[in-house]
Amino acid sequence: MWIQRLDASHALDYRALMLEAYDLHPLAFTSSVRERAVMPLSWWESRLTGKLDRVFGAFEEGKLAGIVGLAFEPREKARHKATLFGLYVTGKAQQRGLGYQLVQAALAEARAHQGLKLIQLTVTAGNEAAFKLYQRCGFVQFGLEPLAVRVGEDYFDKIHMWRELTAESLA
Ligand SMILES: CC(C)(COP(=O)(O)OP(=O)(O)OC[C@H]1O[C@@H](n2cnc3c(N)ncnc32)[C@H](O)[C@@H]1OP(=O)(O)O)[C@@H](O)C(=O)NCCC(=O)NCCS
Repeated sequence: MWIQRLDASHALDYRALMLEAYDLHPLAFTSSVRERAVMPLSWWESRLTGKLDRVFGAFEEGKLAGIVGLAFEPREKARHKATLFGLYVTGKAQQRGLGYQLVQAALAEARAHQGLKLIQLTVTAGNEAAFKLYQRCGFVQFGLEPLAVRVGEDYFDKIHMWRELTAESLA
């Protein structure tokens, strides 16, 4: 297994894995498979090459098996914050530490950015696998957004979490 930053050459595989994630886990993501499936390949490429986004992939036996993204803020007053997004590990690769290592890769990238003080993320209430993983990686809850997403006829809350990138939390 190895983790690397994805570039435009990974756009097709990235698209396939994200569409699988949206399809199999509609409660976990705010984007829907329907709205993302129609996006052109150039949209996925720009996600991988954009100045404000970093996407990392975990490869197993040469195949993309997991992903995570980190988005930076364009506005001057918010540049000390980044958002972790789109964490997904495909079914047969789960429970082997890939999720943890992907979050660690995002944290390492964040640390390399001067001036970055914290990472935020959201996780749908009830997604215990993801919530526990984020807690293990040092994230703490700071809020609960009621009725944050609507999936079908049902509404779900989103837990907001953050992790400070202070010197003592760099270990
Ligand atoms: C949440 C998600 C990314 C976790 O990925 P993962 O690769 O299974 O995560 P890890 O393997 O690092 O950790 C999961 C569990 O495996 C355990 N584990 C880690 N390494 C292990 C190993 N070598 N052997 C056995 N178990 C292991 C961890 O202790 C953890 O246990 P827990 O469930 O009791 O906390 C994955 O379940 C997923 O993609 N879910 C659907 C999409 C989703 O919810 N994304 C998050 C959106 S916010």
